[in-house]
Formats: sequence, structure tokens, C-alpha cells
Amino acid sequence: MSNEREQWGSKLGFIFAAAGSAVGIGNIWKFPSMAGENGGGAFTIIYLICILIVGLSIVIAELVIGRKTQLSPVGAFEKIAPNSNWKWVGFLGVASAFVILSFYGVVGGWILKYIIDSLFGEFSNLSGNPAAAGEVFNAFITSSLGPVFYQIIFMSLCIFVIIQGVKGGIEKWSKIMMPVIIVLLGVLAIRGITLDGGMQGLSFLFKPRFEDLTASSIVLALGHSFFTVSLGMGTMITYGSYLNKKQNLLSSALWVIFLDTAIAMLAGVAIFTTVFALGANPAEGPGLIFIILPSIFPQLAGGILWSTLFFILLFMAALTSAISILEVVTAYFIDQKGWSRKKATLQFGSVITIVGVFCSLSLGGGINIAAPLGMSFFDAMDYLSSKYMLPIGGMLTAIFIIKKWGIKDYMIELRKGMNGATVQDGLVKVFLIVAASIVAFIIFNEIYFTTTGKALIG
Ligand code: PFF
Repeated sequence: MSNEREQWGSKLGFIFAAAGSAVGIGNIWKFPSMAGENGGGAFTIIYLICILIVGLSIVIAELVIGRKTQLSPVGAFEKIAPNSNWKWVGFLGVASAFVILSFYGVVGGWILKYIIDSLFGEFSNLSGNPAAAGEVFNAFITSSLGPVFYQIIFMSLCIFVIIQGVKGGIEKWSKIMMPVIIVLLGVLAIRGITLDGGMQGLSFLFKPRFEDLTASSIVLALGHSFFTVSLGMGTMITYGSYLNKKQNLLSSALWVIFLDTAIAMLAGVAIFTTVFALGANPAEGPGLIFIILPSIFPQLAGGILWSTLFFILLFMAALTSAISILEVVTAYFIDQKGWSRKKATLQFGSVITIVGVFCSLSLGGGINIAAPLGMSFFDAMDYLSSKYMLPIGGMLTAIFIIKKWGIKDYMIELRKGMNGATVQDGLVKVFLIVAASIVAFIIFNEIYFTTTGKALIG
């Protein structure tokens, strides 16, 4: 079976695909709104530290496991640690994929709707009126048919890409969409900086305001560092499993992290320069993208063009991430159950779409199966994955290497493709231990908070 395993067509193709997974709604929607609410540059510094210590070690760990085994998560853990419970870490990854893609697909649908609204000049009625923009957004996401319709289109596009395979689907589309995302964001950032008053947005994003940074901002930054580089659910294991031994995994991981961080910063620049130039509220939180931007873009010359480009790039970022999540599920059924790619993608793409319909309807459209938890099913899925599933998956992956696989064998695989560059076993081990300990503390803190109502930090 492994002889026929698909491979990436080129080194660059793999990096675009992996960076495409990392760069998503998290970079363009979540990061700027989090930074805006949590001390600007102060949050950015904490976020960078988290990415470099925790993110980098675990991205490398996932890539090494994938390339070594040439299998997706469940098979990968089983191959290195046969007949043990470690395969459950792989199953946790597949489960996380279901959970994340169900709500991610809903947001993907909202973005599609906003592209169309922008193109047809619908934002012009919202010009300078965030309250009206808020009403329009809320009315849309709490309705039943509209959001589901767009979510189904978004998920169909995901299925369409994944059915075409690793090289002909994921790689081909990532190679087209990633450069477009970078160029469009660059253009929007320059547009923002050159607006009168735009520079204030830069100091808002980069100048540290430590007084706004709370302990919970640190917890937030750490949780986000998992989500933003697609860690903890085996996406990088799966993408790594299509690599050959010539690829330098350290430099690949650095590229992925660099592109992910650079694009989050660029998104922050594009958004905050525009927000400041037009006198809107920068600390709006999640409403920044779907409420504030539609109310300020029409005030710019060529507003329809700028807002449409913005939502197109957001759509591409969402799609390149969503396909990587679907690929984890598809690869599981191909590797472990021997299914064809087409059958696995169609069946499980549809199941996730149906779960996503329940996420969408839970926002006000009629059915909320998480009502007993006191939150919407949509929020429950988001909370479950970013607070528990991804951190637990990432932590267990680091522990797996330290405790089960062993740093020596791990380093043998990591060194392949590195052309003799030196990395010390001890250093790598320390990074993995630190990463696992920090994450363990954060998970414990969250559990303590939910059970006692008090947090140790945050
Ligand atoms: N990294 C994506 C983002 O920042 O939007 C989200 C994501 C993709 C999370 C893939 C997890 C994953 F496996």
C-alpha cells in the first residue's frame, strides 16, 4: 500500500500546502482581533514566544512522525508504537478534524456571502454605521437557510479539492492561492499605510501596551499558537506523510511558521491602518472583520474593489486550511480502511457538512443541541477544540516522542534531509519538554477554572 502513496510534487509545493493549512481564518480574523483587545504589541510579543517555543517544536515533531511512517495519524502512532494506546492520539486527531471543520465550514460560508454582498455594493448602505453592519451580520448568521446554503457551497469546494488528491488537488490549489493571498494582503496593507492616519494603526498593533495585557491574554496566545499553525490534530503528520527523505524538516517548519506569522502581522497591518484612518473602533474583537470592515470600506475610494479583494483573500485562506482538515479524515479512511479517496472524501465530507449545519442552526436558526451546556453548539465546538482537543493532542505528541519513541530515533529521522547541519539531541529534548509542560499547565488551568470557577492564571 505504501508503495503507491502519493507524494508532493516539489519542495515549494509542500511548503505552500503546509503554510496554506496554517494560514487561515485564525490569522486574518482571530489574530488581529485578539491583538486589538489584549495590548497590541504586548500580545504580539507573547504570541511570538509561544510560536517559537511551543509551535516550532511540535510542528517539527508532527512532520517527523508523518514522514517516518508515511501514514496519517492513527496508523503513524500504531506503526511506531504497535499494540499500544498511542493510536488514540491519532483518533483524537481525526475527531478534532470533525469538530473543527464543522464550525470552520460555517465561517467559510459567511465569507462567501460577504464576497457576494461586497461585489454587489451591499456594503454601501452600511457606510460609517457599524451598528447597522452589526444588525445585518447578526440577522444573517442567526437565520436558518442562508448560512447553511453558503456553508454547503464552501464544503463542496473543499470536497472538490480533496478528491483531486495530494499533488493534483491540495498542492495545485495551494500553489495558486497562497501567492494570491500574499499579494492581496500586501496591496491592502500598502493601501492602509498610505491612508491619512493609517500609521496610527501600526503603532496600535506593534507598540506594547502592557497595561492591557492580562494573564488570560497569555493563555489566549498559547491556545492560538496551536490553532494558527494547525497543530495537535495530525494535520502536519498527514502532510508530512507525503514527503520524501530529501526534505529538510527543520527549514520547512521554519518556513511554515514564518509565513504564518508574517501573514498574521500583515493582516493586522492591513486591518488596523484602515480602521484608524477611518476612525473606527480597533478593539471591537470578533466583530472587526464582519461588522467594522463592511462599515468602513465603502468610505474608501474604490471601496467595492478593496472589500471584495479582502473577502476573496479571506476565502482563499479559509479554503487552504479547511482542505487540510478534511485531508486528515480522508487519509485515515484511505490508510486504515483501504477506502478510495473519492469514497472517503465524499462520505465524510458530507458527514462533517451535516454536523456543520447543526453548528450554523445553533446560532439562532432553530436547533441548538448544546443548549444544556449554556452555549451554542457552534461555540461548544470551537471551545472544545481550541481549549482542549488541540492542546491535548499537541502535548501528547511531544510526550510520545520523549517517552515512547525516544529522542535518538526521532533525531535520526529529523536529520535526514538536513545535509549534515547540526542540531543537538539535548536541545531538541529540552524544547519538547518545555512545550509539553507549558501546554499541560494551560490545560490544567482550564480544567481547574471550569470546575472551580477560579483560574490559577487568567
Ligand atoms: N490554522 C488554521 C487557521 O489559522 O485558521 C486553522 C486550522 C487548520 C486548525 C487546520 C487546525 C488544523 F488542523
